[in-house]
Amino acid sequence: MMKFPSHVSILLFCLTSYLLFFSFTQGASPYGRSSHRGGIERVNNNKAKSKIFIVGSIGRFGRYVTEASIKAKHTTIGLVRAIPSANETEKINLIAQFKSWGVKIVYGDFNIDRKLIVKTMKKVDVVISCVGGSETPTQVNLTSAIVEAGNIKRFLPSEFAIDVDRLQDPVEPAKSMFANKANIRRVVESLGIPHTYVVANGFSARFWPNLAQVNPPVLLPYIKEVVAYGTGDSKATASYEADIATYTIKTIDDPLTLNKNLYISPPLNALSYNELFSLWETKSGNTLSKSYVSEEEMLQMINDPTNTVNGLLAICYSVAIKNDYASYVIDPSFGYEASALYPEVIYKSVGNYFDEVLANATLISSSNGAEGTFSI
Ligand SMILES: *[C@@H]1O[C@H](CO)[C@@H](O)[C@H](O)[C@H]1NC(C)=O
Ligand SMILES: *[C@@H]1O[C@H](CO)[C@@H](O)[C@H](O)[C@H]1NC(C)=O
Ligand SMILES: *[C@@H]1O[C@H](CO)[C@@H](O)[C@H](O)[C@H]1NC(C)=O
Repeated sequence: MMKFPSHVSILLFCLTSYLLFFSFTQGASPYGRSSHRGGIERVNNNKAKSKIFIVGSIGRFGRYVTEASIKAKHTTIGLVRAIPSANETEKINLIAQFKSWGVKIVYGDFNIDRKLIVKTMKKVDVVISCVGGSETPTQVNLTSAIVEAGNIKRFLPSEFAIDVDRLQDPVEPAKSMFANKANIRRVVESLGIPHTYVVANGFSARFWPNLAQVNPPVLLPYIKEVVAYGTGDSKATASYEADIATYTIKTIDDPLTLNKNLYISPPLNALSYNELFSLWETKSGNTLSKSYVSEEEMLQMINDPTNTVNGLLAICYSVAIKNDYASYVIDPSFGYEASALYPEVIYKSVGNYFDEVLANATLISSSNGAEGTFSI
């Protein structure tokens, strides 16, 4: 049993806005040996590696999963909606890189090209959906294709955020987004599709460079003023995208997580606002000016129709004010925490990230001939 921290800074991955990092951590496969970890006994199991079909392969998160899949030596097929046009250089380069690594790219739309999707599914064992948040409901088309193909051993619908089955009184507009995700879970279950729901919590690119600020005016190392919601004491987790992808790939052949949740909440990355701020203050030697937004103020902001970030605020409300996730402990009856299950993965911590930011800032200021300080 592992204690599951609550989450302040959570974001559906469709909102992830920066993709800066492509490093990779990889560990040994949990298979092919017997070991005891965290009281979990592994059976020796020499199954062949599953073949993986990734829907949304070059998407903001799908690209990390594709890289993790190929690095873990899985046969990998990536679905890309359309052949990029000549000016979509980033997509063109990514596809070329993936192909050079041995990823097979299939062009098609899972909402339209049904035959192609079913035919491709028949060639693989596992389907991982990395579609964006707005496409959550249309994943019913993936589930029906999986039923038609008839051979899929594990489906990972596009989750990679919070556990939508463990929320109390969420507020709109987050409430509907959560409900859409929960609804796909129910469809998957009612069709009897073997699955794992990856509850990845937050993505580092969205939360680390801005100290988990909803509407950041500046990024590290220049942040001086920060805002927290509630008391700032509810814990939240954000993890490095490549680590989330590595854990995701590790779990697809793991019998322990079949029809369960994989929670990605490595201890060093599960911090409250107050802990996050003080970690930065300690490492940087700078003091942040902090303010706290009460529940009433937050609800007013969320209900203000001119507020452009009310979706994110509504998600923060669930975790910071409702503190939903402090109320339960991950239990093997419904899931496992990834860093406990796969301790061979050396994950990147937010502290590692802060060190990098500070090292870079020192380099920049010394090359500018400044006094070795990044303060502005
Ligand atoms: C790329 O070209 C298309 C037309 O082929 C155009 O509509 C689009 O705006 C262009 N995109 C960029 C980013 O230049
Ligand atoms: C895909 O799903 C939507 C529902 O979200 C449905 O309206 C549409 O007809 C589906 N497309 C196909 C090809 O089944
Ligand atoms: C630090 O600088 C290196 C080299 O430019 C870069 O690759 C890396 O992403 C930077 N790290 C951070 C945290 O800004």
